[in-house]
Amino acid sequence: MILVTGATGHFGKATIDFLLKKGISANSISALVRDEAKAEDLKTKGINLKIGDYDNYASLVEAFKGVDKLLLVSSSDVVNRGQQHENAVKAAKEAGVKHIFYTSFERKNDTETSPIYFLAKSHIDTENLIKASGMTYTIFKNNLYLDVLPMFFGEQVLTTGIFLPAGETKSAFALRNDMAEATASVLTSEGHENKAYSLSNTESVSIQEIAEDLSEIVGKQINYVSPPKDIYVKTLTEAGVPAEYVGMFAGFAEAIKQGEYSTEKTDLENLLGRKPTTTKDFLKVVYASK
Ligand SMILES: NC(=O)c1ccc[n+]([C@@H]2O[C@H](COP(=O)([O-])OP(=O)(O)OC[C@H]3O[C@@H](n4cnc5c(N)ncnc54)[C@H](OP(=O)(O)O)[C@@H]3O)[C@@H](O)[C@H]2O)c1
Repeated sequence: MILVTGATGHFGKATIDFLLKKGISANSISALVRDEAKAEDLKTKGINLKIGDYDNYASLVEAFKGVDKLLLVSSSDVVNRGQQHENAVKAAKEAGVKHIFYTSFERKNDTETSPIYFLAKSHIDTENLIKASGMTYTIFKNNLYLDVLPMFFGEQVLTTGIFLPAGETKSAFALRNDMAEATASVLTSEGHENKAYSLSNTESVSIQEIAEDLSEIVGKQINYVSPPKDIYVKTLTEAGVPAEYVGMFAGFAEAIKQGEYSTEKTDLENLLGRKPTTTKDFLKVVYASK
């Protein structure tokens, strides 16, 4: 039995779809959901629903019973997920899960000096807990989703251009769906015991190159400005963007600038057996019709 957590979210849902496409029968897949009403499509596909919440330890132990492979999709609750993941790892151990797979993140800097330490810490702690648990594990170091770039660029990007303090460093951003496909591939094949994979693109791009691609796609000049961080924070704050978003965007931009998402690793391409979706192809899908 394979159990996927976060199954009502984008990544978990996509991974389950790829498991089905790879020939795993629906009755061999379980989905952890905290709100059954959000799981009608999973039910229709014949997936076993397990009701559980990362905040409720007992619900996790119950849900994880009989599971051979557990895909722990990291929680979207960035404030509480350290404890939530600890609950999930301990529950997996107690329930007798044989192999735990975890969606962590690609990075270079594991220390408090990382500009995204507020997000990084819980991933690093979870990786350490998993390794100390004695369960067989596989860690996915997921690069920044291409899918989140439009959020950083803002809704008016085609009018205002890209204003982001991300410098000129190249990153290996990858499509969330490609990462889900690669994850399903690992879940359905052998030889991944106690390994870590970087789910990163094999083509790296700078934000300047993204602006150039975007200009070509929409047929007009889209400029990229990388302001000093304090100017960026002041500009967004004066525009009424809530402080937590300003801090998050500034942290990610600085991480891009410092090369946190820059890697030459080819695991994603190897697992997919094809080139990952390029940034330009992603941009075409999002912006070509705008
Ligand atoms: N690499 C990147 O660029 C990147 C970007 C964004 C997020 N992430 C991380 O990757 C994860 C998966 O991405 P995604 O796009 O699939 O995120 P998503 O669509 O927001 O899905 C998050 C999933 O986590 C579930 N969840 C949240 N709190 C929970 C709890 N207390 N107990 C049980 N389940 C809980 C949600 O359930 P509900 O549907 O009930 O809310 C949902 O199914 C995110 O959660 C986040 O940790 C990575």
